[in-house]
Amino acid sequence: MDLYEAILNRRSHRFYKPDMPPREALERVINAGLWAPSGTNAQAWELTVLAGQPRDEFVALCSKSIPYMEPVLEKAGLTEERRQVVRGFFKNLGGAPVVIAVTVPKARDPEMQMAIIQSGAALMQNLLLAAHAESLGSCWMTGVLFVEKDLLEFLGKTDQQLLAITPIGYSAKVPPVPPRKDREVRWLGF
Ligand SMILES: Cc1cc2nc3c(=O)[nH]c(=O)nc-3n(C[C@H](O)[C@H](O)[C@H](O)COP(=O)(O)O)c2cc1C
Repeated sequence: MDLYEAILNRRSHRFYKPDMPPREALERVINAGLWAPSGTNAQAWELTVLAGQPRDEFVALCSKSIPYMEPVLEKAGLTEERRQVVRGFFKNLGGAPVVIAVTVPKARDPEMQMAIIQSGAALMQNLLLAAHAESLGSCWMTGVLFVEKDLLEFLGKTDQQLLAITPIGYSAKVPPVPPRKDREVRWLGF
């Protein structure tokens, strides 16, 4: 798949088929994530891939973030219809059979923490693009961070910070294409 095609056509998927993706495809996606750049090449990230019973238990905890999401949805000006979609998504992560959770350590210096978080974000984007290249859907999610403590306890990583999670699976619905804003880009010295 052409890189620009992947970047422009990757979408956030919120409805999934229950079919389990092949383990080899998931391993390729994870390997792409692990090849992300990282500050001082520290690769200070940890991935947990959940399926089956652990996935179900983890997703049940994620759904506890729904009440906390309400003010966020209101502030974002979402219609009631869109809010219902979001609530439904957070309830079962769209039925995705696999969930990847990315955790990172807590650094003492804010500068180091910034590098760790940006590195984790690069890993996340690699995961999403690789999933797209494997014809798999995904959705970067931080909304569940409202229940970060519960999720970290479940993962057995209470000393870490939960960066984000993503469901992974075959998409069951063509997602909308949220428009991008026109941004003024300053070109200096051209
Ligand atoms: C840091 C970050 C956090 C996000 N958190 C959520 C989330 O909690 N729930 C959700 O449904 N989508 C979440 N998204 C997905 C965005 O809503 C989505 O990327 C945006 O609407 C653009 O749509 P697209 O990814 O299909 O291009 C998140 C995306 C990013 C980058």
